[in-house]
Amino acid sequence: MSDEQTQRGGFDMRSLAGERFPPPDWHLEKIQEEMECPEPKNRMMSVVKRMGNQTVPDFSGVDWEAELAAFGDLDYPTYYQQPFHSVPGGYLSEAAAVGDRGAMEAIYEEAHPRRSLGVREELAKLIPEDAGVVVDLGGGTADLGAAVARRLPKAEVLSIDASPFMVVAGRVQNADVPNLRIEQGFAETTGMPDASVDAAIITLVFHECPDKIKRTVLDEVKRILKPGGTLVLTDTPHDDLHDFRGFYEPYREQWLVWDEEATLSEAGFEGLERRDVAPPLWSVVCQKPG
Ligand SMILES: C[S@@+](CC[C@H](N)C(=O)[O-])C[C@H]1O[C@@H](n2cnc3c(N)ncnc32)[C@H](O)[C@@H]1O
Repeated sequence: MSDEQTQRGGFDMRSLAGERFPPPDWHLEKIQEEMECPEPKNRMMSVVKRMGNQTVPDFSGVDWEAELAAFGDLDYPTYYQQPFHSVPGGYLSEAAAVGDRGAMEAIYEEAHPRRSLGVREELAKLIPEDAGVVVDLGGGTADLGAAVARRLPKAEVLSIDASPFMVVAGRVQNADVPNLRIEQGFAETTGMPDASVDAAIITLVFHECPDKIKRTVLDEVKRILKPGGTLVLTDTPHDDLHDFRGFYEPYREQWLVWDEEATLSEAGFEGLERRDVAPPLWSVVCQKPG
């Protein structure tokens, strides 16, 4: 990245994303384009304003360079290396991870009296109470994994995320949950044994994946679930990304027309049931055939 790109507009992209995962030059172009689009930005602006009022974890003691040194390099696919939500570097940035809780609390401020953490508690209730092994794919900073682990203290809960930044932040903000593990990995290639998981969770991940990857992830879920195991798929309304302009979302058009029930059925899941326990989010609960 050239110095001009890095410093443009007084905005130091390198300090946001770090030396190890420098965002490509086109990230800033996309972010600028998104800000200049003619659609209203009022929803985005209200979230940005509200973020400042949230209670957030303290990351001041984290030595990011040292923490990141413990992670190997994954071969990040191009679909993942996007400036999601207009953050340079996308999820491969300290800014995305450190800002995650505050952003989620701001976005879901009206969805539940306890904001996004309350939303997590509602979603956790969709996991069968007798689940022994639960995996959350694309688990981010693991607030949902933590809610599930607290609700099911005898279960082993594993939250997997491709971003080492999200993993580090998750380990800091959910350090008090003994039956929660947070690891780096891809949802489409978890490395977990066949038929080893009682319940799988995918929350707010698919609106950020191309359709082909959604299907690959569902195939992986089917592989790792035990027969009769449960998948809980939760995401944002399909037209939401069009109403949230200013936050760059590369798969906005695919999301508008994606049909979760058709794709889940094609991937071989059965017993599909809509359980919208935490609006505006929607959830579909379904099973791998027994
Ligand atoms: C919008 S966040 C949602 C995080 C979390 N599920 C939640 O409910 O807050 C999307 C997350 O999915 C992760 N992600 C996207 N594609 C992934 C993939 N193929 N494998 C693993 N993680 C992925 C990103 O790194 C990011 O942390």
